[in-house]
Amino acid sequence: MNSLFTPTTLGNISLPHRLALAPMTRSRANADGTPTNMVPIYYAQRASLGLLITEGTQPSEDGQGYMMTPGIHTDAQVAAWKKVATAVHAEGGRIFMQIMHAGRMSHPDNTPHHRDPVAPSAISAGQTMYTPTGPQLTPTPRALSRDEVHQTIDDFRKAARNAIDAGLDGVEIHGANGYLINQFLASNANIRTDEYGGRIENRARFAIEVAKAVAEEIGPERTGIRLSPGFEVGGLNDGPDGEELYRYLVTELNKLGLVYLHLHHFGNEPFLADLRARWSQKLLVLRYDRPVDDIARDLDSGIADIVPVGRWGLANPDFVERLKTGAPFNEPDPSTFYSGGAKGYIDYPTLQKDQSAVA
Ligand SMILES: Cc1cc2nc3c(=O)[nH]c(=O)nc-3n(C[C@H](O)[C@H](O)[C@H](O)COP(=O)(O)O)c2cc1C
Repeated sequence: MNSLFTPTTLGNISLPHRLALAPMTRSRANADGTPTNMVPIYYAQRASLGLLITEGTQPSEDGQGYMMTPGIHTDAQVAAWKKVATAVHAEGGRIFMQIMHAGRMSHPDNTPHHRDPVAPSAISAGQTMYTPTGPQLTPTPRALSRDEVHQTIDDFRKAARNAIDAGLDGVEIHGANGYLINQFLASNANIRTDEYGGRIENRARFAIEVAKAVAEEIGPERTGIRLSPGFEVGGLNDGPDGEELYRYLVTELNKLGLVYLHLHHFGNEPFLADLRARWSQKLLVLRYDRPVDDIARDLDSGIADIVPVGRWGLANPDFVERLKTGAPFNEPDPSTFYSGGAKGYIDYPTLQKDQSAVA
């Protein structure tokens, strides 16, 4: 456990320990994609986690997938995110914004413009999504034209600039978990015949061009990326050449000097070691549903530099203190993950609150 509490750096910023808050969509934005007034409170409460990675935030109207998620493509959104960054910094935390384009994992009823979702190819994710009128099937998306692919890369670039203008410390490009970038990587969602589909180098091209554009705009020392090799989600399948693709992709991304790679890891240990060997900057490793007493494993083995936590951090604003002192943890309540409102968002008790309630 001692390895957890050693300081580290990420580009130009210093971090007090090796924990971080993983990106988690919480659906607490207003209809115009501005974070509500609760959002600065939520993140500031969790500032002792050191590095906070925000919920997935859309770079454009097309990028929205779920209901009430925030954006970073309008002036009002930038102004509202400024309040979040200021609140986190006032508590001594650092904050990276996760930029997420949902691609085909979307529904017209969840977006302000009500248009069909876009994707590399017109292949439905075949998933059920929550919408304002209840669960509905994801429709067949419209395939992006080449010009639109270039426009989307530019949307990521502008979104990253906006995040920095809003005072955030950096951005994490969401290349994981079944969303647009992941859809380009997966051969069963990308059957394009142009330079963005087909062989490995082509399917990886969109991810690399997004990363390049963002790094050129805000600096590689402020640009991270999240990937989830082997995670079959949203109807995606890496396919027979999946491992080869990720080896190539990580090697190419490494050349850009990005400040971190964040792996949502699903258990192939030799493959994880292989990716580690290809990556010379900081590696963040999150293992799904990792027990708390296992949290330092990837630090102790030298695989990871930082080990983000998801639901433990969602339910425990003072997760670090609880871990250090052996105090019990609040259990996350899945019924309030996306429910809107303060309950299950900014009312998880801290140890301090518990004690004052007793006294
Ligand atoms: C409520 C909720 C929302 C999530 N939203 C996102 C997201 O916006 N972007 C993302 O990359 N991962 C998202 N995830 C995945 C988490 O970042 C993390 O990988 C996952 O919760 C597993 O970690 P854990 O076992 O520590 O919770 C979400 C998870 C949860 C529980």
